[in-house]
Amino acid sequence: MSPLRVTRTLPEDATDAALRADVLNGLTATPKTLPPKWFYDARGSELFEEITELPEYYPTRAEREILLARSGEIAAASGARTLVELGSGSSEKTRLLIDALTGLEVYVPVDVSESALTQAGQVLIEERPWLTVHALIADFTGRMELPETPGPRLLAFLGGTIGNLLPAERARFLASIRRLLAPGDTLLLGTDLVKDEEVLVRAYDDAAGVTAEFNKNVLAVVDRELDADFNPDSFDHVALWDADNEWIEMRLRSRVAQTVKVPALDLAVDFAAGEELRTEVSAKFRRAGVTAELAATGLELTNWWTDSQGRFALSLSMAR
Ligand code: SAH
Ligand code: TRP
Repeated sequence: MSPLRVTRTLPEDATDAALRADVLNGLTATPKTLPPKWFYDARGSELFEEITELPEYYPTRAEREILLARSGEIAAASGARTLVELGSGSSEKTRLLIDALTGLEVYVPVDVSESALTQAGQVLIEERPWLTVHALIADFTGRMELPETPGPRLLAFLGGTIGNLLPAERARFLASIRRLLAPGDTLLLGTDLVKDEEVLVRAYDDAAGVTAEFNKNVLAVVDRELDADFNPDSFDHVALWDADNEWIEMRLRSRVAQTVKVPALDLAVDFAAGEELRTEVSAKFRRAGVTAELAATGLELTNWWTDSQGRFALSLSMAR
């Protein structure tokens, strides 16, 4: 069995510095914000896996349905010897792709969650000893240095995670991933689609309260890492549909007027009763928009597949 290789592209103190900068900027801004990558400590990654199994959270099941039906076509079109996956998490759906890619030699999962990466990587190399897994702990919104691996490459970005980037971040991100691809390499992109508001809001505000717990976990991360005294119970989870921007917005609403201390930053943050902190957007897409955004970065859309209910799309595009 080939060993699991895990590379940290940033030293741990750089992660700490990034968290400090994000928390300082976000909590002193108007309105207050926190960037979504800090949701995913070990507990956050676990909660996200629970979300994927909720009856209301359709994207995972819809995307799996497409992968089940189309992995053969994707494999044939890409001919990939290396599969790179951004925000790979548990790599659960990815197995369908890995097993369809007959010439695959190396899998490079990239994630900020070290716990998710090592767990997923261990399982993969136990079950598939022929596969080299080179896991990368990295922020996909930053400069990514990928290991030297055989081409052609298939870059997968699943789960609709691209919707968690704001439009300007998304344009920068697409330009940066285009630089990782050589002509003939392919991008497999999962995008959740615009649909009925009620269905969307329920997916981000489930009856069992798992999404609420996930959203509040970012406060627990700031408490633990920066010694802050957020009381997650003094905030309510809010998910709303922004029809102009066509995204779901996740917020945490302070139940009371309160001051939160962040000693590591020498910071005291006042919240008015009812004041909201924005934690994440989850943009929903249409085919024309995805095609145009890909084209703008030099990627030509070759395939567009949806699940049988038209809720979620996987697109394949090629670098020219
Ligand atoms: N691809 C999986 C997981 C989606 S959840 C699926 O489809 O089910 C989003 C994943 O992206 C999480 O594993 C999270 O840790 C990771 N992530 C979020 N922001 C990130 C960033 N800036 N850089 C790298 N990984 C990130
Ligand atoms: N990428 C997922 C999505 O946008 C992440 C996610 C699901 C999420 N549920 C959430 C993020 C709730 C924050 C809060 O669907």
